[in-house]
Amino acid sequence: MLIKRNPNGIDLPFASEITPREIFESRRTFIRQLAVGSIAGGALFDMASRQAFAQSASAHKLAAKANPAYVVMDKTTAYKDATTYNNFYEFGTDKADPAEYAGTLKPRPWTVAIEGEVKKPMTLDIDSLLKLAPLEERIYRLRCVEGWSMVIPWIGYSLAELIKKVEPTGNAKYVEFISLADKKQMPGIGSPVLEWPYVEGLRLDEANHPLTLLSVGMYGEVLPNQNGAPVRIVVPWKYGFKSAKSIVKIRFTKDQPRTAWNIAAPQEYGFYSNVNPAVDHPRWSQASERRIGEDGLFTKKRKTLMFNGYNDVASLYKGMDMKKFF
Ligand code: MTE
Repeated sequence: MLIKRNPNGIDLPFASEITPREIFESRRTFIRQLAVGSIAGGALFDMASRQAFAQSASAHKLAAKANPAYVVMDKTTAYKDATTYNNFYEFGTDKADPAEYAGTLKPRPWTVAIEGEVKKPMTLDIDSLLKLAPLEERIYRLRCVEGWSMVIPWIGYSLAELIKKVEPTGNAKYVEFISLADKKQMPGIGSPVLEWPYVEGLRLDEANHPLTLLSVGMYGEVLPNQNGAPVRIVVPWKYGFKSAKSIVKIRFTKDQPRTAWNIAAPQEYGFYSNVNPAVDHPRWSQASERRIGEDGLFTKKRKTLMFNGYNDVASLYKGMDMKKFF
């Protein structure tokens, strides 16, 4: 098991069923109602029928088995917050832009080309990717370099499953993730804010770490466009910008890839970008974070945890100076 403790204090058992979005929301209401003792038999029946309705009504439903080995106990971020406060510069730089403009992205048909230093290069369509390994639901914290974080129930499987299939050669040391860059679908392409396409990268051992998720959904549904439909990477111990969205190419390389944010501001965004409260961004501290949804006037910020709380990855960086390799 990778995450054994709730880093915020309490260890709680986790209800390990599949959790469509409406059920996440209604479960929270249910727990609140239980807590205040306001639930009665009639209300319970009503809840059951509402859940059944929600399940049948959702056209974008994606079945996945909850994997309790990859769960943080923090309260899950509301679906509305996770889908309206986004960074996806292909659709604009404002947090509200992706939700407003990503409707033009066509997540089907879609293919992902896997190439470079592999014995079995291949191009997979989205249905083949969905079937490549059993889909799991994993609840990860995601910490943005800007100082906010969310807790999201992702759906996907370890990227390692895909890496196994393509058989990297002995020369493969890094993996590059290349996002779609199509002006017709993405109004932000052409803006000088970043070099396009958006490119991110990991060392091969980081990419092979079981926590690194190839994600195709969240909250029991396929990925909304603004969150990187139809397929993205989620690397929960690194700042959010390492988690490239709407990927069309995965390339295995000998050399460390150039990456979008490192090209834009190399002194601010390193290749590694591990969440590290002890290494400040040149323009702000990284010691604490604002959890989206906890925005009251008197709400205290949370302490940022080393590796975002995913301490199992520490062995990947043994002997490395984390200030130098930020
Ligand atoms: N991927 C692409 N292609 N373009 C982007 O602008 N933004 C990154 C990352 N992946 C980005 C991207 C940043 S800065 C963050 S914090 C996360 O996506 C946000 O993911 P979310 O909107 O699903 O929370």
